Amino acid sequence: MTYTIPESREAAQAQDEHDILRHAREAFDIPEGTIYLVGHSLGPATHTALDALSRAGSFEWREELVSAWNTAGWFDLPVHIGKQIARLIGAGESEVIIADSVSVNLYKLAAAARPLAKSPTLIVEEGEFPTDQYILEALANLAGTDFIRAGRGNGPDTLAETGGVLVMSAIDYRNAEVRDIAAHESRAAETGGVIIWDLSHATGVIQLDLKAAGARLAAGCTYKYLNGGPGAPAFLYVSDTMCDTLHTPLPGWMGHARPFAFEPSYTPAPDIRRMASGTPPILSLSALSGALEVFEALDAGLIEDKARALGDLVIARVQAMGLEVASPLDASQRGGHVSFTHPNGYEVVQALIARGILADFRAPDTIRFGVSPLYLGFEDIWTAMEGLEDILTTRSWDNEAFRKRATVT
Ligand SMILES: Cc1ncc(COP(=O)(O)O)c(C=O)c1O
Repeated sequence: MTYTIPESREAAQAQDEHDILRHAREAFDIPEGTIYLVGHSLGPATHTALDALSRAGSFEWREELVSAWNTAGWFDLPVHIGKQIARLIGAGESEVIIADSVSVNLYKLAAAARPLAKSPTLIVEEGEFPTDQYILEALANLAGTDFIRAGRGNGPDTLAETGGVLVMSAIDYRNAEVRDIAAHESRAAETGGVIIWDLSHATGVIQLDLKAAGARLAAGCTYKYLNGGPGAPAFLYVSDTMCDTLHTPLPGWMGHARPFAFEPSYTPAPDIRRMASGTPPILSLSALSGALEVFEALDAGLIEDKARALGDLVIARVQAMGLEVASPLDASQRGGHVSFTHPNGYEVVQALIARGILADFRAPDTIRFGVSPLYLGFEDIWTAMEGLEDILTTRSWDNEAFRKRATVT
């Protein structure tokens, strides 16, 4: 299906009517009257996630108690969900596991990758998501190894020069710029470097084919476009070719080859389970597994196409309002959100929220509109953009109530 940029509300409605993805919206439980443009931060609840959560709490935990580790399949849930995610990122079923947070997984992967790279130097770009920077720098300090904070866009060149380990987002959290995984992987492999991909802003919104791209290591979160719920645990990808040689720095009992043999010393599991550390959060995993059911019948290529078309509509309208777009204008270079700037961005976002149009703000002046294609239509975007235009023209954002900063923006 080819999506176009509608030039009127009627054209937006017509495109929604013919949209193959329009029924996906029924899977979500979004409050009436809300236009949710924050799926790049916290995806909304799905009926299947809420049902799975309720079942895990009220039946499995309450009725089956500790036996549920076996009877309800709790023990295998991290690997089972890994398989659900593998399909979405173009990985083999044995290459993905759910564990911990992205931050912790980046630590584990970077520490495990150091001995496999030509040099142990750890590299991250200065514009990278802050946790990625903090984790790498702390690991370098602990390991007594070089740490390089490369200039924006210079990570791959630095990696080619030093042959170390680079952590890099496949989609930039600020402006949704896309990185070419295949091109960077092939150069890294030639020069003895290892890249760990942060897929947090990519998974569930753009088409990923990690195997075809030659990606070796990755981690990503599940609470954004995968709609796993607040604080849902992260996933970790290790290509089959790397698994045997990868040794986690946090060898907990859940990564042991025989966790219930209670052996005094550690033997890593022969498969991806070796990257697990401690007991998995079953209630969160249950919600996540339910949420992922929504993706089962959906085509990742179509999701990507629609996200980019929705983004094009945001860009066309934002530019018409004279605002500066911070995201790539070329849709093929953009992920699932559009960023633009306004000197009073925080207040503008609060004024939007007051109208039921939920967007987010990133200091100092960036407004982000997430365009999740599963529950947003072209008319929703049209309405949101009319709301934005009205707020700017009437300066209704210029109000004391909108200046008070919340802890989470
Ligand atoms: C690109 C990116 N990396 C890492 C994180 C942090 O993930 P976690 O809180 O699971 O450690 C985020 C969170 O939004 C993110 O956007």
